[in-house]
Amino acid sequence: MKIKDKLQEFTRQKRGLLATNFYNLETLQGVLRAAADMNEPLILQLTQSSIDYMGLNTAVGMGRTGLKDFGVEGWIHLDHGGSVELVQRCLDAGFDSVMIDGSELPFEENIKITQEVVKRAKSYDAHVEAELGYVAKLGQSHQEQGFTQPKEAYQFVQETGIDALAVAVGTAHGFYKDEPKLQLDLLSEIAEITSASLVLHGGSGVPEAQIKAAVSRGICKVNLATEIKNIFMKTLQEQLKENEEIDLRKVFPKATSKITDLVKGKLEIVKNIK
Ligand code: 13P
Ligand code: ZN
Ligand code: NA
Repeated sequence: MKIKDKLQEFTRQKRGLLATNFYNLETLQGVLRAAADMNEPLILQLTQSSIDYMGLNTAVGMGRTGLKDFGVEGWIHLDHGGSVELVQRCLDAGFDSVMIDGSELPFEENIKITQEVVKRAKSYDAHVEAELGYVAKLGQSHQEQGFTQPKEAYQFVQETGIDALAVAVGTAHGFYKDEPKLQLDLLSEIAEITSASLVLHGGSGVPEAQIKAAVSRGICKVNLATEIKNIFMKTLQEQLKENEEIDLRKVFPKATSKITDLVKGKLEIVKNIK
């Protein structure tokens, strides 16, 4: 199934579709094992830094082959694409879906760059996500975020023709100092007025009840990154303190399986919001 159809189907069913970032082979294996064990679909996300780290074709090849090997229904998505050039490279490399993040641009410029991406994605039959309002990036204070305005969201979706819209409704990237407070009524208003599939960024650190509430109000794609990195590296650091093993193939699996446990928990949260 195409990612667009899956998102629409899940939105109708009030189910979340988890989108996990991966950084190397082990983090990829960790998330795929979880999806395979639970027989759930999964979006595999790559940011520019992960693409730079692994190499574009290696990253896509790993993701694609991994989905096949694990028997998981999934899609490869560019997370927070910062330029039309990067989007173009990803389209050429066979991504199913791309995000153009013009959230820091003035409204009209965000529309313009998003329109350009939608135009290019069309000939690849690729799915497009864009962001309106501002979800604070890693290390930025929550004050820097501007909530998505429903009327602007309507106009933005109309004028750009995007498939999915990342909304700013009280989440932030990374962990939270204080528990986040999602603007659920605002989210309902946005869901009411727009036809695009809605995306929740900043999934790490959001309490289970708030993720469920967000999905019940219209969020479909739920992004998760920081918790994956965190559990992987914390587990590795712990292990390396205690042993001198140099066979990396014996060291990584514990950290990989911690990712699997984490992602299974998240899949459980989004698949049934009651
Ligand atoms: P977290 O790092 O808070 O999970 O956010 C992930 C995200 O939004 C990726 O686009
Ligand atoms: Zn994000
Ligand atoms: Na977060």
